Amino acid sequence: MNVTRATFDDVMVPNYNPAGMVPVRGEGSRVWDQDGAEYIDFAGGIAVNVLGHCHPELVDALTEQGKKLWHLSNVFTNEPALRLAAKLTEATFAEKAYFANSGAEANEAALKLARRWALDKFGEDKNQIIAFNKGFHGRTFFTVTVGGQAAYSDGFGPKPGAVEHCDYNDLAAFEAMISDNTCAVMMEPLQGEGGIILPEPSFVRGVRELCDKHNALLIFDEVQSGVGRTGDLYAYMGLGVTPDILTTAKSLGGGIPIGAMLTTTEIGAHLKAGTHGSTYGGNPLACAVAEKALDIVNQPEILEGVLKKEALFREILSAINEKYNVFEEVRGKGMLLGCALNEKYQGRARDFMVAATNENLMCLIAGANVIRFAPSLIIPDEDIKEGLARFERAVAAVVNAE
Ligand SMILES: Cc1ncc(COP(=O)(O)O)c(C=O)c1O
Repeated sequence: MNVTRATFDDVMVPNYNPAGMVPVRGEGSRVWDQDGAEYIDFAGGIAVNVLGHCHPELVDALTEQGKKLWHLSNVFTNEPALRLAAKLTEATFAEKAYFANSGAEANEAALKLARRWALDKFGEDKNQIIAFNKGFHGRTFFTVTVGGQAAYSDGFGPKPGAVEHCDYNDLAAFEAMISDNTCAVMMEPLQGEGGIILPEPSFVRGVRELCDKHNALLIFDEVQSGVGRTGDLYAYMGLGVTPDILTTAKSLGGGIPIGAMLTTTEIGAHLKAGTHGSTYGGNPLACAVAEKALDIVNQPEILEGVLKKEALFREILSAINEKYNVFEEVRGKGMLLGCALNEKYQGRARDFMVAATNENLMCLIAGANVIRFAPSLIIPDEDIKEGLARFERAVAAVVNAE
């Protein structure tokens, strides 16, 4: 059966608007389309392909487990899930894990757990959830409501209640909003979709202190920032602020759908048998691949490499900007970088992304004003240089089109 990009418009619901080319094969940080054209991948499946495409050790883990056991449901446990949970709890503050299939589901579990914990311990008045404007936590109705972008949450009827938002990095506004009725605060320790915005260290410390003062749980959504992306295994480690609940997905599976919620024994105990669940969550196939991805990423040489690659990106991007003067700043950390467009190019991030695709470079945007790069953590330096040479041609195309 012959399928093309035009087939998409015939048979798919129009909620996505994918690029014109259809990729068919990937290896490392290179991808090929139906016509055999080769692309460099700075998109990384939106911060998912943490070790690039078809990393041999992940392929081995997948095929080995694929020949053994794929799925059981949670009526039975399985060895890869138990090993992955042991490794995640060993490597982080957490003592307990819950597995889901995506970031949104991991966050849904975190929010439901927080509400249960507060109800069990303090009664029904302690139900307020505070989150941040421009935050993104997924597309289920609860997570989209907690996310701070009306464009994603409006237009679907009545929302789950007791959810409030304040500005990121505004500790005074946060202090004015939090009270003893706050049950949880959900935040990204580096806002991704909202525009690659780093938190002020004093803001994160202040949020933690106020959560402690008001007996509210601090939930870090590390779906995008986690699993080595910032050069720390999890971004909270670099900030020196420990959450009560952490959610992780995307890079965790290296391309296989999996999410996890991590927490302490005391808090996790409130998700009693039967209170929450998932048919596929923690299935052996996904967990076997995630275990291997975690083993590889959580090595000092890989994590140090992330910061070296960031430096290379920044050096070349600043040279491009000196020539074309299009960015106000390059921000973010590790392999999660954003080029924020200056005044002259406001609202035009998508034009740069399309121009990059035309130059055989896959990249992302984060809102209308930021071009985002979230490549593999082990992208070879020559692919960074070649990809940025293509990016420079894309920038020139946009600038010269005026
Ligand atoms: C911080 C954050 N949380 C949650 C999600 C949702 O994850 P998923 O698309 O796997 O449901 C995303 C996805 O972009 C994200 O960046």
